Amino acid sequence: MPKVRWLGHACFLITSPSGNIIIDPFIKGNPQCPVSIEQLPKLDSILVTHGHGDHLGDAIELCGKHDALLVSTYELCVYCQTRGVQKVHPMHIGGAAKFSFGTVKLVPALHGSAVTHPNIVYTGEACGFIVTIDGSALYHAGDTALFSDMELIGRCHSIDCAMLPIGDNFTMGIDDAVIAATMLHPKRVVPMHYDTFPVIKANPFEFARKLKEASEAIQCHILKPGEELEI
Ligand code: NI
Ligand code: MN
Repeated sequence: MPKVRWLGHACFLITSPSGNIIIDPFIKGNPQCPVSIEQLPKLDSILVTHGHGDHLGDAIELCGKHDALLVSTYELCVYCQTRGVQKVHPMHIGGAAKFSFGTVKLVPALHGSAVTHPNIVYTGEACGFIVTIDGSALYHAGDTALFSDMELIGRCHSIDCAMLPIGDNFTMGIDDAVIAATMLHPKRVVPMHYDTFPVIKANPFEFARKLKEASEAIQCHILKPGEELEI
């Protein structure tokens, strides 16, 4: 059974007997992140949803430090190669691939993707991930608006845990995230991408209450940064 540890914002560390992966490793500049780069376990792979600094985060440094495989969109993988990343596995939306730790499928996200420092470099489309690991299916939505094809994602995958943004402004807010959850019908939802900065302040308990009103079948797990959930 994989363990999903929230490191604040959109950063999740997933540990399992099959391997350790991290999604959107925003560690150093992340005011919510309770661990340092040095405190992370050995990483097999690093998954990045899009190029914005709060998602690409420390991925390039971590790839070097852990000799880890970067899994992302083609454009973002190529960008990271120009920054010295050795091991990449480029993919694109709709595609799935098998890895030592499990399977990753890239799914749509309605958002931008660019690296913005020191200059703006566009890195294609933003994505979400369906990660299948040790028999559990996890959906990390990335940064996204609500879109009706979430219904299709829910139909094609029996999702054990969905990580959904609720912070508004750059992504879905609470009400849209509740609709997203009812379309995806996962077993559990973990809200993310809120309270990191004042502009994305949101109350996860309001989300949990509205989700319960919308669907009794979906459990909401509000994690504190650093807390872990066994799937
Ligand atoms: Ni973003
Ligand atoms: Mn973001």
